Amino acid sequence: MIKAKSIQVSASILCADFTRLESEIKKCEDAGIDSLHIDVMDGHFVPNITIGPVIIEAIRPLTKLPIESHLMIENPGAYIDQFIDAGSDAVMVHAECYGKLRAKSRGLNRFPKEVDTINAKEALADIKKIKRRGKRAFIVLNPGTPMCLKSILKDLDGVLIMSVNPGFARQKFMPAVLSKIQQLRRIYNGDIAIDGGVNEVTAKEAVKVGANILATASYFFGSDKPKEIVRRLKSLRER
Ligand code: DX5
Ligand code: ZN
Repeated sequence: MIKAKSIQVSASILCADFTRLESEIKKCEDAGIDSLHIDVMDGHFVPNITIGPVIIEAIRPLTKLPIESHLMIENPGAYIDQFIDAGSDAVMVHAECYGKLRAKSRGLNRFPKEVDTINAKEALADIKKIKRRGKRAFIVLNPGTPMCLKSILKDLDGVLIMSVNPGFARQKFMPAVLSKIQQLRRIYNGDIAIDGGVNEVTAKEAVKVGANILATASYFFGSDKPKEIVRRLKSLRER
Protein backbone atom coordinates (compact mmCIF):
# COMPACT_ATOMS: atom_id res chain seq x y z
CA MET A 1 0.00 0.00 0.00
CA ILE A 2 1.38 3.39 -1.02
CA LYS A 3 1.36 5.87 1.85
CA ALA A 4 -0.36 9.23 1.19
CA LYS A 5 2.11 12.11 1.05
CA SER A 6 1.48 15.53 2.52
CA ILE A 7 0.34 18.15 0.05
CA GLN A 8 2.72 20.80 -1.22
CA VAL A 9 1.77 23.96 -3.05
CA SER A 10 3.95 25.45 -5.72
CA ALA A 11 3.40 29.03 -6.95
CA SER A 12 3.97 29.76 -10.62
CA ILE A 13 5.29 33.31 -10.95
CA LEU A 14 3.67 33.56 -14.38
CA CYS A 15 0.78 35.44 -12.74
CA ALA A 16 2.97 37.49 -10.38
CA ASP A 17 3.42 41.23 -10.87
CA PHE A 18 6.76 41.34 -12.69
CA THR A 19 7.36 44.97 -11.72
CA ARG A 20 7.77 43.88 -8.12
CA LEU A 21 8.92 40.30 -8.10
CA GLU A 22 10.72 40.61 -4.78
CA SER A 23 7.55 41.41 -2.84
CA GLU A 24 5.59 38.79 -4.80
CA ILE A 25 8.12 36.18 -3.69
CA LYS A 26 7.85 37.44 -0.13
CA LYS A 27 4.09 36.98 -0.47
CA CYS A 28 4.69 33.34 -1.45
CA GLU A 29 6.92 32.80 1.58
CA ASP A 30 4.46 34.43 3.98
CA ALA A 31 1.57 32.40 2.58
CA GLY A 32 3.34 29.09 3.20
CA ILE A 33 4.13 28.22 -0.42
CA ASP A 34 6.55 25.26 -0.67
CA SER A 35 8.30 26.04 -3.95
CA LEU A 36 8.43 28.54 -6.80
CA HIS A 37 7.40 27.22 -10.21
CA ILE A 38 9.01 28.93 -13.19
CA ASP A 39 7.18 28.51 -16.49
CA VAL A 40 9.82 28.62 -19.21
CA MET A 41 8.34 28.81 -22.74
CA ASP A 42 10.16 29.13 -26.05
CA GLY A 43 7.42 29.81 -28.62
CA HIS A 44 8.21 26.47 -30.35
CA PHE A 45 7.20 23.77 -27.89
CA VAL A 46 4.27 25.94 -26.84
CA PRO A 47 2.63 28.97 -28.49
CA ASN A 48 4.03 31.52 -26.05
CA ILE A 49 7.36 32.98 -24.88
CA THR A 50 8.04 33.72 -21.24
CA ILE A 51 10.92 33.44 -18.81
CA GLY A 52 14.56 32.35 -19.15
CA PRO A 53 17.51 31.68 -16.84
CA VAL A 54 18.25 35.38 -16.30
CA ILE A 55 15.08 35.75 -14.26
CA ILE A 56 15.94 32.71 -12.15
CA GLU A 57 19.37 34.16 -11.55
CA ALA A 58 17.78 37.43 -10.45
CA ILE A 59 15.36 35.87 -7.98
CA ARG A 60 17.72 33.20 -6.61
CA PRO A 61 19.30 35.44 -3.95
CA LEU A 62 15.88 36.71 -2.83
CA THR A 63 14.58 33.46 -1.35
CA LYS A 64 15.41 30.12 0.16
CA LEU A 65 12.32 28.53 -1.37
CA PRO A 66 13.20 25.75 -3.81
CA ILE A 67 12.92 26.83 -7.44
CA GLU A 68 11.52 24.38 -10.00
CA SER A 69 12.00 25.14 -13.68
CA HIS A 70 9.23 23.80 -15.89
CA LEU A 71 10.90 23.71 -19.31
CA MET A 72 8.32 24.04 -22.07
CA ILE A 73 11.06 24.25 -24.66
CA GLU A 74 12.43 22.16 -27.51
CA ASN A 75 15.70 20.33 -26.94
CA PRO A 76 15.63 20.82 -23.14
CA GLY A 77 18.80 18.79 -22.58
CA ALA A 78 20.89 21.56 -24.11
CA TYR A 79 19.70 24.01 -21.44
CA ILE A 80 19.70 21.90 -18.27
CA ASP A 81 23.08 23.14 -17.08
CA GLN A 82 22.13 26.77 -17.68
CA PHE A 83 18.97 26.42 -15.63
CA ILE A 84 20.83 24.71 -12.82
CA ASP A 85 23.65 27.28 -12.90
CA ALA A 86 20.99 29.98 -12.60
CA GLY A 87 19.70 28.43 -9.38
CA SER A 88 17.07 25.76 -10.12
CA ASP A 89 16.61 23.04 -7.50
CA ALA A 90 14.41 20.93 -9.74
CA VAL A 91 14.17 20.68 -13.51
CA MET A 92 11.03 19.46 -15.25
CA VAL A 93 11.37 18.25 -18.83
CA HIS A 94 8.55 17.23 -21.16
CA ALA A 95 8.07 13.63 -22.34
CA GLU A 96 7.04 15.02 -25.73
CA CYS A 97 10.67 16.05 -26.31
CA TYR A 98 11.78 12.39 -26.27
CA GLY A 99 9.39 10.62 -28.60
CA LYS A 100 7.95 10.70 -32.10
CA LEU A 101 5.37 13.47 -32.14
CA ARG A 102 1.90 12.55 -33.30
CA ALA A 103 1.34 13.64 -36.91
CA LYS A 104 -1.03 16.44 -35.87
CA SER A 105 1.54 18.05 -33.57
CA ARG A 106 4.55 17.72 -35.86
CA GLY A 107 6.04 20.93 -37.30
CA LEU A 108 5.87 24.64 -36.54
CA ASN A 109 2.85 26.13 -34.78
CA ARG A 110 1.11 22.81 -34.24
CA PHE A 111 0.05 22.46 -30.65
CA PRO A 112 -0.29 20.75 -28.24
CA LYS A 113 2.74 18.53 -28.71
CA GLU A 114 1.82 14.89 -27.99
CA VAL A 115 3.52 11.50 -28.16
CA ASP A 116 2.39 7.93 -27.54
CA THR A 117 5.72 6.57 -26.36
CA ILE A 118 9.11 7.96 -25.45
CA ASN A 119 12.66 6.97 -26.21
CA ALA A 120 13.61 5.98 -22.67
CA LYS A 121 17.34 6.13 -23.36
CA GLU A 122 17.19 9.75 -24.51
CA ALA A 123 14.96 10.79 -21.62
CA LEU A 124 17.21 9.02 -19.12
CA ALA A 125 20.29 10.80 -20.43
CA ASP A 126 18.69 14.16 -19.51
CA ILE A 127 17.29 12.85 -16.22
CA LYS A 128 20.78 11.72 -15.25
CA LYS A 129 22.23 15.07 -16.28
CA ILE A 130 19.89 16.74 -13.78
CA LYS A 131 20.56 14.20 -11.03
CA ARG A 132 24.33 14.23 -11.47
CA ARG A 133 24.19 17.88 -10.47
CA GLY A 134 22.30 16.95 -7.32
CA LYS A 135 18.96 18.39 -8.47
CA ARG A 136 15.50 16.85 -8.62
CA ALA A 137 14.31 15.51 -11.97
CA PHE A 138 10.69 15.47 -13.13
CA ILE A 139 9.13 14.37 -16.40
CA VAL A 140 6.07 16.27 -17.57
CA LEU A 141 3.15 14.79 -19.52
CA ASN A 142 0.86 16.92 -21.65
CA PRO A 143 -2.85 16.12 -21.27
CA GLY A 144 -2.98 14.14 -24.52
CA THR A 145 0.19 12.12 -23.84
CA PRO A 146 -0.54 8.83 -22.08
CA MET A 147 1.34 7.45 -19.08
CA CYS A 148 4.33 6.22 -21.07
CA LEU A 149 7.03 6.39 -18.38
CA LYS A 150 6.89 2.95 -16.81
CA SER A 151 10.45 1.92 -17.60
CA ILE A 152 12.00 5.13 -16.22
CA LEU A 153 9.79 5.81 -13.19
CA LYS A 154 12.40 4.50 -10.79
CA ASP A 155 14.86 7.12 -12.02
CA LEU A 156 12.54 10.08 -11.48
CA ASP A 157 11.94 12.25 -8.43
CA GLY A 158 8.50 13.04 -9.71
CA VAL A 159 6.05 13.31 -12.56
CA LEU A 160 4.23 16.51 -13.45
CA ILE A 161 0.86 15.93 -15.05
CA MET A 162 -0.36 18.86 -17.11
CA SER A 163 -4.04 19.48 -16.49
CA VAL A 164 -4.23 22.08 -19.27
CA ASN A 165 -2.46 22.25 -22.60
CA PRO A 166 0.68 24.22 -21.77
CA GLY A 167 1.28 27.77 -22.95
CA PHE A 168 -0.89 30.00 -20.82
CA ALA A 169 -2.16 30.56 -17.31
CA ARG A 170 -5.88 30.96 -16.48
CA GLN A 171 -7.11 27.94 -18.45
CA LYS A 172 -9.70 25.40 -17.35
CA PHE A 173 -8.67 22.19 -15.60
CA MET A 174 -9.15 19.13 -17.86
CA PRO A 175 -10.85 16.39 -15.77
CA ALA A 176 -9.79 13.76 -18.32
CA VAL A 177 -6.31 13.74 -16.74
CA LEU A 178 -7.63 12.43 -13.43
CA SER A 179 -7.57 8.83 -14.63
CA LYS A 180 -3.94 9.25 -15.68
CA ILE A 181 -3.02 10.48 -12.19
CA GLN A 182 -4.84 7.53 -10.66
CA GLN A 183 -3.16 5.06 -13.01
CA LEU A 184 0.24 6.49 -12.14
CA ARG A 185 -0.33 6.56 -8.38
CA ARG A 186 -1.17 2.87 -8.37
CA ILE A 187 2.39 2.04 -9.44
CA TYR A 188 4.41 5.06 -8.31
CA ASN A 189 5.43 6.31 -4.91
CA GLY A 190 7.30 9.47 -5.96
CA ASP A 191 5.89 12.98 -6.24
CA ILE A 192 2.95 13.51 -8.55
CA ALA A 193 2.38 17.17 -9.36
CA ILE A 194 -0.44 18.73 -11.32
CA ASP A 195 -0.26 22.01 -13.21
CA GLY A 196 -3.03 24.02 -14.82
CA GLY A 197 -6.45 25.19 -13.70
CA VAL A 198 -5.79 24.35 -10.06
CA ASN A 199 -8.32 25.67 -7.58
CA GLU A 200 -9.90 24.25 -4.46
CA VAL A 201 -12.46 22.22 -6.41
CA THR A 202 -10.18 20.78 -9.09
CA ALA A 203 -7.31 20.16 -6.66
CA LYS A 204 -9.60 18.14 -4.44
CA GLU A 205 -10.31 15.73 -7.29
CA ALA A 206 -6.65 15.46 -8.17
CA VAL A 207 -5.57 14.85 -4.58
CA LYS A 208 -8.23 12.19 -4.21
CA VAL A 209 -6.66 10.17 -7.03
CA GLY A 210 -3.08 10.63 -5.88
CA ALA A 211 -1.57 14.04 -6.68
CA ASN A 212 0.53 15.55 -3.87
CA ILE A 213 2.00 18.71 -5.40
CA LEU A 214 -0.30 21.45 -6.68
CA ALA A 215 1.13 24.13 -8.98
CA THR A 216 -0.93 27.29 -9.29
CA ALA A 217 -0.48 30.66 -10.95
CA SER A 218 -3.79 32.54 -11.26
CA TYR A 219 -5.62 30.99 -8.31
CA PHE A 220 -2.83 31.94 -5.90
CA PHE A 221 -1.71 35.30 -7.31
CA GLY A 222 -5.28 36.37 -8.09
CA SER A 223 -6.36 35.98 -4.50
CA ASP A 224 -6.37 38.66 -1.83
CA LYS A 225 -6.14 35.93 0.80
CA PRO A 226 -3.08 33.97 -0.35
CA LYS A 227 -2.44 32.42 3.05
CA GLU A 228 -5.96 31.08 3.16
CA ILE A 229 -5.60 29.62 -0.34
CA VAL A 230 -2.50 27.69 0.68
CA ARG A 231 -4.05 26.54 3.94
CA ARG A 232 -7.14 25.25 2.16
CA LEU A 233 -5.19 23.46 -0.56
CA LYS A 234 -2.93 21.82 2.00
CA SER A 235 -5.84 20.59 4.05
CA LEU A 236 -7.55 18.85 1.11
CA ARG A 237 -6.23 15.44 2.18
CA GLU A 238 -8.02 15.63 5.51
CA ARG A 239 -11.34 16.66 4.09
C1 DX5 B 1 0.84 26.41 -18.25
C2 DX5 B 1 1.85 26.53 -17.14
C3 DX5 B 1 1.19 26.56 -15.80
C4 DX5 B 1 0.35 27.79 -15.62
C5 DX5 B 1 -0.67 27.58 -14.55
O1 DX5 B 1 1.48 26.32 -19.45
O2 DX5 B 1 2.76 25.45 -17.16
O3 DX5 B 1 2.16 26.44 -14.76
O4 DX5 B 1 1.12 28.90 -15.31
O5 DX5 B 1 -1.56 28.65 -14.52
P1 DX5 B 1 -2.98 28.55 -13.80
O6 DX5 B 1 -2.71 28.09 -12.40
O7 DX5 B 1 -3.54 29.91 -13.88
O8 DX5 B 1 -3.76 27.54 -14.58
ZN1 ZN C 1 4.01 25.09 -15.31
